[in-house]
Order: sequence, then C-alpha cells, then structure tokens
Amino acid sequence: MDAATAPPPSPARWRVGLEQSPVSSVTFRHAREHRVKACRGIILKGMCGIVGYVGPLTPSDRPLSVALEGLARLEYRGYDSAGVALATPDGVQMRKKAGKLKNLRDSLETDPLPAATAAIGHTRWATHGAPSDENAHPHLSADGKLALIHNGIIENFAALRAEVESSGVRLRSETDSEVVAHLLARAFDAIGDLTEAMRTVSARLQGAYTLLAIHEDVPGVIVGARRNSPLVIGLGEGENFLGSDVAAFISHTRTALEMGQDQIVTVSADEVRVIDADGAPVTPREYTVDWDASAAVKGGFDTFMAKEIHDQPAAVGDTLLGRADETGRLRLDEARIDESVLRSVDTIIVIACGTAAYAGHVAKYAIEHWCRIPVEVELAHEFRYRDPIVNEKTLVVAISQSGETMDTLMAVRHAREQGAQVLAICNTYGATIPREADAVLYTHAGPEVAVASTKAFLAQITACYLLGLYLAQLRGNMFIDETQALLAELAEMPSKIQEVLDTEGHITDVARDLSGVDSVLFLGRHVGFPVALEGALKLKEIAYIHAEGFAAGELKHGPIALIDQGQVVIIVVPSPRGRDQLHAKVVSNIQEVRARGARTIVVAEEGDDNVEPYADVIFRVPQTSTLLAPLVSVVPLQIFACQLASAKGLDVDQPRNLAKSVTVE
Ligand code: F6R
Repeated sequence: MDAATAPPPSPARWRVGLEQSPVSSVTFRHAREHRVKACRGIILKGMCGIVGYVGPLTPSDRPLSVALEGLARLEYRGYDSAGVALATPDGVQMRKKAGKLKNLRDSLETDPLPAATAAIGHTRWATHGAPSDENAHPHLSADGKLALIHNGIIENFAALRAEVESSGVRLRSETDSEVVAHLLARAFDAIGDLTEAMRTVSARLQGAYTLLAIHEDVPGVIVGARRNSPLVIGLGEGENFLGSDVAAFISHTRTALEMGQDQIVTVSADEVRVIDADGAPVTPREYTVDWDASAAVKGGFDTFMAKEIHDQPAAVGDTLLGRADETGRLRLDEARIDESVLRSVDTIIVIACGTAAYAGHVAKYAIEHWCRIPVEVELAHEFRYRDPIVNEKTLVVAISQSGETMDTLMAVRHAREQGAQVLAICNTYGATIPREADAVLYTHAGPEVAVASTKAFLAQITACYLLGLYLAQLRGNMFIDETQALLAELAEMPSKIQEVLDTEGHITDVARDLSGVDSVLFLGRHVGFPVALEGALKLKEIAYIHAEGFAAGELKHGPIALIDQGQVVIIVVPSPRGRDQLHAKVVSNIQEVRARGARTIVVAEEGDDNVEPYADVIFRVPQTSTLLAPLVSVVPLQIFACQLASAKGLDVDQPRNLAKSVTVE
C-alpha cells in the first residue's frame, strides 16, 4: 500500500458504516422484506454471554442446538458456568453446570432435554456468588414457570432481595440475577403480559443489565431488556435470534437490529417488537453484518491468540485505510466536535485500562512530539475518582477495544459532564463508548476473541498515530507533505510486522526453553517503556508468571535489587539511529543487569551490532523510526508470552479469572 497516494476506501473485511434511514415499521414481520441495505461490523463485548432463539410452535431440537452453538461462540465472554432453558410442551426445562460449556454438553448428552420452541442460554463470568451450579444461569421463578438470564450487575439487588425474601420466596442462589426472575414472575402473574411485566420490573432495576426471559404460558416468545449491557437481535426466516453480540447467531443470519438503551424487546418466530421504557414503540436500526464467520474461528492456529498475533499486519493495514480525503487531508470516522474547538484544545487526557492504556502511553510520545500539546495518560478508574481538572479545552481520548469497559465508560461520562470533548478510539462499531463520545476513530482489527489483547493493541497505537497526525494537520503543526511522509512510513509497518512474525520459530524455541521460569523483568525506555509494560502484562495474564515492566532509567532507583543469578530480563532497545543517546543508555542497562547474573533477551533492530556482546538471546525487529517502533517491538513479546503459555499447557485464550471485557466497575 502506498499511503502517499490517496488510500483506497475502508477495509472490506471489517467494514463499518450504517444506513441512515431506519426501517419503517416497528413490527418486523417477514423482516427480510424490510431490509435496509446497510453494512456494519459489530461484536459487542461484555461480561457473560447471552443467546436466545425462537422458532416455530412445533417443538424441535433446533432451539437447543442453536443456543449451544451460540454459547460456544460467546464463551470468550466468560466461562465460569453455562446453562440453557427451553420452552417445551412439558413447561420450562433448564440445565446449568459450573465450569466450561463442555460440562453442560456432557450433562445434556447423558440426560437429554425434550424438543422445544424457544431457548435461552448463558455463559457466565461470576460477579455475585461463586462459579457454582446454583449460581449459574438461567434462574427459575419459584413456580418453575419462568426462566431468566442476566448479564451485568443489579446494583440495588440487596433491597430487592430483601423484598422478595419477605414475600416468602427462598432464593436458591447468591446472585443478583435470581431476584429479577422472582420479580418478573410475580409481575407476570399480576399483569398477564410478559413484555409489560419486563418493562415494569426493568424500571425498578439500577445498574447494568441485559435480561432474557421465557415463560411456559407463552412458549413461542422471548422477552429481553437492556441497560448499559449489549443485546442485538438477529432476524431469520420463520425464526429469530438474540445475542450479546452477533457472533451468537452469525452462522444463521447476518441481518441484525440494534437495541437501544432502556428498551424492551419481544421476539417470536416471525415478529420482533421493541418498546422504550415508557412503553412507546421504537424502530430499531437494521444492519447487515459483513464480517465473515471464519474471522471468528482460529484459522488453522492452535489458539485465537496465535491467530490474532498473525492478524496484526492486516489489523494495522486496515486501520490505516481510507483515512484521507481526495485532497490528502486526514479525517475522523465520526466528528461531532467543531474543528475550531479541536484547534483550541490545550490538554489531552487519554483514559483507558490495561493494554489499551499502554497504547495511550505510546500516543503521549507521538502526540506531544507532533502537536506540542501536553498529553496525560490515566487509568480510567483512577481518573474517574480523583476529581480531575477537565474543562472545555480538554480533549479526552478514550481507548477501548470493546467499547464496553465500564471503567472507561464511566470516565467518559464524567469527562463529558465536566465539559470536556471526548474522542473514542474503539474496535467495536456502535458500542456504548463510541456512541456516547463526541468523535470516533475506529480501529479495524476485526473481532478479537482471545482474552489477551494483541491485534487490537497494534490497531489502537495505529489509530493514536492517525489522531496525532490529524491534530497536527488541523492545528497547523505539520504541512500536508509532512503528514503524508509519516503516513507513507506507517504504510510500511504491516510488512515490517510480518517480518517479525516470520521469526516466530526462533522466539518459540526461546519461550519453550524458558517455560520453567517464575519471574521475568522487562525494561524499556521512551516508547519502549509501554512496550515493556505490555510485554509483562501479556506474560502475567496468560502464562501466570510474575512479570514486571520498568522504565530502564529507573533500574538503578530500586528494581536492580531484584537482579540475581539467572533472573530473566527482556530489554527493548531503541533504534541506534534515534535521538538523545537513548540507545547507548539502554545498552548500558543491559550491561548492568548482565554483570549481576541476569539472562538477557534483547529486542533490537536489524543491524544493531552493539547489543550482541551483552545479549544471551536477540529478537530482531526491522528498522523503523523511533516513534513507530512499538508496532514492531511488541510483537516478539506477544509471541513469547503466547508460546511460553502454550508450552506450559495453559489455556492461552481463556486465562483464569479473566474475561474479555470488564463491564463492571
Ligand atoms: C489485556 C487486556 C486488557 C484490556 C482492558 C481494556 O490483554 O486485554 O487489559 O486491554 O481490559 O479493555 P478494552 O480495550 O475493551 O476497554
């Protein structure tokens, strides 16, 4: 790709874009006739996975098989337990098991459930109550006629639980969710209408929820509700689907409806009705999912993480595509901020969590250098609670792969309340954070399934560079030929990343040799510092090895005391062609730790011979300019963690205690 010339339009593989005109009817009978041509890549992520299916009133095995298939695709959202409930001629039948989906499948094989007309299924990431059979979803009402699944946290559940218990109901689980099942059943008994019952009960709930419920008196219907948690509807022929994201039903339909905040949906085999919290009909927006189901499978790799590491040249390339107009000027995907406001911005605060925050650290170096605006980087959960100084001249940049991270979302809301403009960098089209932001720059990494973020990180860094160049262009810090020169350099990055991937065999050998170590330290300087932090995080989260990242200059201020005979230290070395003798200083750091017995693994540019005398092992990366180096230097560290965890026989894609996206504070 030559970014110096006008780049081609946005990537086909992960294309986004939404038809403006909504479908004309609130009732989606024969939904395909109403289809509006739209294309939209969407994979909303949140804790717990939810799936629903409603088919014809003749019972069959399809509801259960669709639900189990959906759960398999959603298991990355949580895997503490899995369960299903079916609407059958014998009433509501439920099965749920602690542990991974396999436990539920095994139980269903030994003791099958009857044919059904509708199914709801849930895969859990535990919040209230341990991961046990009792706390698994679905939850039944006291009379066993209603089953409910829930994603999120009901914040006022203690008061509601006391109310339910005082009415004589004995709760079977410790969850906040079971309480809602009892409230809903009671409301249904009083009102006689499941939709209205859901609307009444939802109005009493505080917090975040996606709810789906079935009742044996209405066996062809699922009723759902959402607030601050995702829910999408899939439109089929004579059948309909619900899911936390489209992965739940992608192999059955690509036509989906977006559910808005505080809406209630009633789905039968051939009808979808949506109402708002006041009961008024709502016309949801319809779109076509145009990413391939194969994008969500492992593509020949042993793990999703390995596949996603190899997706990175495409993730970076796709994120760069289609960014300039015909005059060569950069633009944002969605800009609801006046350009004059962006010109007057005097501070940028990046808010994010985990890996996304490390992308923000890289952004700081680039944006301050290119735009001469002070950039602070703060963990979203810290920002939110420290009374930050934010005003209308502050641009808050919220980075989130999922767009659903609750800490980041709350920080976004807080920043906006203080008058700041918020720009979101997000990988999930239409997720809550970009919806609430004033401007959006989407990354085009495609669906990231492995819990440990890799390709989204590189895409986030790429988007941060684009943002820096956009601001530099807007504020007059750079001429158009300067931004284009940098874009041309960025355009070379996918092939440079591929060069690193081609060295995977060497990195794998090293990782296997070191699979017995119990501590690894990472050192980096300048943009190599966030790379060191990210390398350490990857190793902690998937290989369960104690790992710390340090700024190399900090070594002598304390961390060097940790160096002992055999301690593994990975050092990210800056380019010898860079400024300020950084390279020489980091080479000295390698000598210092080696002299104290450390085993040194050095990430260094091709042709950098200075490191050779002090390195036990070298991971080579292609030559790049200093600011762009993280796009290549983090890749060996990702491969190292992935291969080391695999060598230890660990579940690389679903590490213990973690979920893909943290949608609770
Ligand atoms: C680590 C990882 C997490 C996420 C963090 C933010 O591998 O994936 O640290 O980066 O939870 O998630 P998003 O980007 O979805 O807001």
